[in-house]
Amino acid sequence: FRTLDDLDASGKRVLLRADLNVPVRDGKITDRTRIERLLPTIRELADKGARVIVCSHFDRPKGKRVPEMSLKPMVEALSATLNRPVAWADDCIGPAADAAAAKLQDGEVLLLENTRFHAGEEKNDPAVAQGLAELADLYVNDAFSAAHRAHASTEGVAHLLPSYAGRLMEAELKALDAALGNPSRPVVAIVGGAKVSTKLELLGNLMKKVDVLVIGGAMANTFLAAQGHAVGKSLQEAEMHDTARQIMADAAATGCEILLPLDLVVASEFAPNAMTRTVAADRVPPDMMALDVGPDTVDAIEAKLRKASTLVWNGPLGAFETPPFDQATVAVAQSVASLTASSGLKSIAGGGDTVSALRHAGVLTRMTYVSTAGGAFLEWLEGKTLPGVAALEAA
Ligand code: 3PG
Repeated sequence: FRTLDDLDASGKRVLLRADLNVPVRDGKITDRTRIERLLPTIRELADKGARVIVCSHFDRPKGKRVPEMSLKPMVEALSATLNRPVAWADDCIGPAADAAAAKLQDGEVLLLENTRFHAGEEKNDPAVAQGLAELADLYVNDAFSAAHRAHASTEGVAHLLPSYAGRLMEAELKALDAALGNPSRPVVAIVGGAKVSTKLELLGNLMKKVDVLVIGGAMANTFLAAQGHAVGKSLQEAEMHDTARQIMADAAATGCEILLPLDLVVASEFAPNAMTRTVAADRVPPDMMALDVGPDTVDAIEAKLRKASTLVWNGPLGAFETPPFDQATVAVAQSVASLTASSGLKSIAGGGDTVSALRHAGVLTRMTYVSTAGGAFLEWLEGKTLPGVAALEAA
């Protein structure tokens, strides 16, 4: 694919597909990583004299104008992080977008309203792609994290304008490819989090590629239950037990070692600063639930990491947003950071929760590479073709 190195931006109207789908709570952005990682591309384009027209989806408004899902608050966030003014258009296509784009001068930046306010965005409707294409001379896609969606703004428009990968897209693809295309072994993968059924598929694929598969978070409960252990009130998916057993059998057959929790931190309710106990993984009391892995498990993971060359991490080990259930995730994150610095461990992490967890642990900048992607990172780990990337490659 072509990059900004191949693009003569001066005086050009550039449609930049960003991913401003950032986590927001009570109207406040809780993590600006995606905005920050986008800045090099915007700056480079604007400094080269392009008229930068930024578009993105936000949340899942399902083709309706949902006021709480407007990108308007992002004007200030973007402008503050960029340290330059950002203009606004109330729509991503049509008269409002056309008028705002027409007013833009060289080096200026415009943000368009949520692309998903149009039902045609997610349907990859050629009319939406055409409306977007009419705003610009060139298309730059910097939304690796939305590249698993074949939408008008991520895929369709790439066929209508000369298309390029932005700096973030380029960095994501280079880092992931170099790290996992042909990784140095042993490779350890840590997979955690609550999205059990979605990640079981990932586990099936990862076990063919990695040497040790560490399973933590709520999905570990499903595996423990599938082994016949009492899991008490723990979150788990009973209907996935057969699949979990199959995964364990397949992993054994392919020579991939699965590491399940040896001990668990349990509480009778999921609440901040709840009273906790640490129990063996097969001893969760009936009235309690597992919310983190315990210290013996952390030791076992660290032992694997000390021998590893490459680590792929997706998903926290426990309910890290609610201390004290952050302890295992923080401890392992800090070990990974030290090993990355001291013994050249190649540490690659991705997923919205994982990024927040690493930030919480204070080690976000001490990994070899942190992807901004959630679902796209997963699909990439599953070996799937990402339509947004394929469209750039075809361009
Ligand atoms: C993400 O946050 O993973 C991307 O922005 C894609 O969002 P989506 O899952 O709503 O398509």
